[in-house]
Amino acid sequence: MKKIIIIPSILSADFAALKHDLKMIEKSGAEWVHIDVMDGHFVPNITVGPVVVKSLRKETELFFDIHLMITNPEKYWRKFKEAGADLITFHSEISAEKKKLVEDIRSSGIKAGISIKPKTSVSEIEALLPYLNLVLIMTVEPGFGGQSFMDNMVAKIKVLRKVIDENNYDCLIEVDGGINSRTASICIDAGADALVSGSYIFAAENPLEAVKSFFV
Ligand code: DX5
Ligand code: ZN
Repeated sequence: MKKIIIIPSILSADFAALKHDLKMIEKSGAEWVHIDVMDGHFVPNITVGPVVVKSLRKETELFFDIHLMITNPEKYWRKFKEAGADLITFHSEISAEKKKLVEDIRSSGIKAGISIKPKTSVSEIEALLPYLNLVLIMTVEPGFGGQSFMDNMVAKIKVLRKVIDENNYDCLIEVDGGINSRTASICIDAGADALVSGSYIFAAENPLEAVKSFFV
């Protein structure tokens, strides 16, 4: 069985205690952490910028999975790379030239991903698959933690799995939004490689056990 990458999202964590949460994630056995960047424009919410990422970088060697929900990633991605990003994912629904952006990010020495919102189909990003390290399928409307998983997104995971396998692309499928123990199995069965989970972990009485529960 392939190893599924479990990625706690700090969006639902206590932002005054992020250092503590990074230590909890390390202890859980997870190797990645998901950092949601929102600009109040691409999505109706605002979170953190490169200065926070830079401070977190000093505290951990976890793999930094940066999810840019911003209108102009071409303007800001480099700041996140300099702050310590290992992977930068931007959205398909932006207006900048996507292939160039993927190439710029990758030639800077880190990994690049593209995310698709629930209303965006896999065909929108298909031509970019040979260049991508990862595709992030949103299973909620981006912007907030704690929303319910959209079951009708499962078909998209299956379609993408098929295209990647048929063409032997070296590209991971990450799923983000409403992931708990039940929806995690659905996504894994559909072909996901990596699962982001926020509120299920951080709203749990014991977040450490909640992360660990994904590994059993
Ligand atoms: C939502 C973010 C997600 C969020 C997921 O826009 O992209 O990463 O943290 O949170 P949950 O797991 O609570 O749906
Ligand atoms: Zn996210």
